Amino acid sequence: MSTSRIRTASRIVAALSAASCLAAGLAAAPAAADPRPRTLGELAKRHHKYFGSATDNPEFTDAAYMELLGSEFGQTTPGNAMKWYATEPERGVFDFAAADEVVSFAKAHHQKVRGHTLVWHSQLPAWLTEGTWTADELRAILKNHIQTVARHYKGRVIHWDVVNEALNEDGTYRESLFYKALGPGYIADALRWAHEADPHAKLYLNDYNVDGIGPKSDAYYILIKQLKADGVPVEGFGLQGHLALQYGFPAGVQENIQRFADLGVDVAITELDIRMPLPATPEKLATQATWYAEYVKACLAVEKCVGVTIWDYTDKYSWIPSVFPGEGAALPYDENLRPKPAYQAIRKVLGG
Ligand code: G3I
Repeated sequence: MSTSRIRTASRIVAALSAASCLAAGLAAAPAAADPRPRTLGELAKRHHKYFGSATDNPEFTDAAYMELLGSEFGQTTPGNAMKWYATEPERGVFDFAAADEVVSFAKAHHQKVRGHTLVWHSQLPAWLTEGTWTADELRAILKNHIQTVARHYKGRVIHWDVVNEALNEDGTYRESLFYKALGPGYIADALRWAHEADPHAKLYLNDYNVDGIGPKSDAYYILIKQLKADGVPVEGFGLQGHLALQYGFPAGVQENIQRFADLGVDVAITELDIRMPLPATPEKLATQATWYAEYVKACLAVEKCVGVTIWDYTDKYSWIPSVFPGEGAALPYDENLRPKPAYQAIRKVLGG
């Protein structure tokens, strides 16, 4: 049979089989499974990065929320469960129940986990903030806390935010409980102790208002450079990314990520959300969408930017309205778990 006759014959066969499917009321089967990645997590993975969401234990009773958390994202961060008040509520008495719940969920859904956070001035237990400690006592308490928590999660977290929010806006050290008693050396000590307890987790410093180039990110640049020169195991810098439409998009985000990468540390976008004065309008949501896209694009452009985490994924569970009254709508899904323009913009930038 000639080639053209074969083509004609196979067209007839195809037409007949489609017609018989229709006659039988059956839809023709697709030629092959749709190979396009369907989720933000899958899309990010194609770029060798993760796309994740923070979560919190009270949300675990919301089945619709959990379904999306487990399916759409490739990484999760416990929003509160690993903080000191939760993990060591009494001196020397550790409670990992809430954090274990998040880590087990993540494991069951093949998600990476970022550990957040070992040392922070906020959400400390009363026994610690109300006690009177000598420097030696506080150093021992700090070491024990860091090492007990990091050992418990050894092999189960990819990163630790070892010290969170250590600097002020002008780049000076925050006068935290730890700084006041131990001086700036507590940061290097914390990193060394965490490394001893879990040598494979990448150890981060993490802060807000360090997205672009400015005095605070400049100070972190100098600090991390010095820590590395001293052989301290600092391996990542976390840009929290809590932005607000009314303050404008930070200048030089990609350049900032790149300069930390050039120092030899990874960079993670750890707590991204973009709030706005309420009510949300189509115009504000459109601007928010371009900002999300812009931020994600900056991470994609730098090889050592390892991933993006949004600080929960739905406006239903955002921390914003309780802290900034009159502001909100900060996340890519609305309060009814419906994707917003920001969601579509992130998908697009990830190639979806
Ligand atoms: O645990 C109590 C509960 O017993 C009580 O019934 C309830 C009533 O308000 O409060 C509960 O504590 C809340 C806690 O979250 C746990 O849900 C606190 O009031 C609330 O202030 C606290 O907010 C957390 C906030 O950190 C504290 O600063 C947010 O959920 C959490 O998302 C937020 O996360 C921080 C990051 O860790 C660091 N970067 C900034 C980011 C946003 O603030």
